[in-house]
Amino acid sequence: MSLWRFQTYRRVGLLGINRRNAEYILGHNPRRLFPLVDDKLATKALCRDHGIRTPDLYGTISAHHEIRDLEKMLAPHDSFVMKPASGAMGNGVLMVLKRRGDSFIRGSGAQLGIRDLRYHASSILSGLYSLGGRVDRALIEARVRVHEVFNDLGEGVPDCRVIVFRGVPVMSMLRLPTQMSDGRANLHQGAIAAGVDITTGTTHHAVHLDRVVSKHPDTGKAVRGIQLPHWDEILRISAMSADMTGLGYLGVDVVIDADEGPMLLELNARPGLSIQIANGGGLTPLLERIEKLDISGSTPKERIAMARSVFAAHRKAALGEDRAT
Ligand SMILES: Nc1ncnc2c1ncn2[C@@H]1O[C@H](COP(=O)(O)OP(=O)(O)O)[C@@H](O)[C@H]1O
Ligand SMILES: [Mg+2]
Repeated sequence: MSLWRFQTYRRVGLLGINRRNAEYILGHNPRRLFPLVDDKLATKALCRDHGIRTPDLYGTISAHHEIRDLEKMLAPHDSFVMKPASGAMGNGVLMVLKRRGDSFIRGSGAQLGIRDLRYHASSILSGLYSLGGRVDRALIEARVRVHEVFNDLGEGVPDCRVIVFRGVPVMSMLRLPTQMSDGRANLHQGAIAAGVDITTGTTHHAVHLDRVVSKHPDTGKAVRGIQLPHWDEILRISAMSADMTGLGYLGVDVVIDADEGPMLLELNARPGLSIQIANGGGLTPLLERIEKLDISGSTPKERIAMARSVFAAHRKAALGEDRAT
């Protein structure tokens, strides 16, 4: 690493991959808990037990012979999402918006037949999209409807990632799909990442393909200053996810349905570090402040209040430093 990069990392407190793994993941996430979050069906079941909403499950396919029943399973639904239970980075997520005759219309406008859907299910089962190519299960769930706040912010459903440490929300970003990402809010697919102010739930900074941007590339709409609806509920789901899983350091992904409000989409025991780029600031100083908190016996509500004061104190300190330099 160049000296310049090293100094920049130090100054803004960027957390690097080695420290994340050694200190936060190894130190706070027992391996035995990983199956709860590495399988979306397991996460859904956990959420159901704890009263956290997730998109309705229409059906699952666990073995090749069950693919025969796919047509029957889909019959009551015009719109749905089929995806691997153990997928990542948006791979294998197939979104159907509506039907036209015997065809299924995808977000991109492409038409698929039932044979294509069967083939997709079969590819999912074979492990084409799952980590390490392991055999997988396919799940079919309700398609979340885009909230009106996100109108003109591209096709597809944005998702909100919150990093939670010791049950305290630390940092957040809104991922906005683009034409390039084909309706999926995954940065690897070309979605925009906008940093969200933890205290208010408003986007304050954004990047697309590692470049700072102020407008959505497809629609020209401002990507800074978006107030996320139901922000307190998003924080509550995030703080509760820590209790529900027992994970000390996790990424919570929430989507906001137009009618039903926030829903948990997935959890991640090894959340990525690009959230720092989206926010134009590092995780380290925030994590270090949270490390010092006495959280014993605290409720999610109390930890959300802690999150807000940690963020405010951090911002105040950072501003003081700016003035001093
Ligand atoms: N039920 C759904 N309704 C609408 N969009 C969805 C749904 N499930 C997934 N997506 C879109 O696809 C993206 C990737 O799905 P996700 O479940 O997070 O899988 P992955 O683990 O591959 O990221 C989401 O960020 C969202 O934009
Ligand atoms: Mg995801």
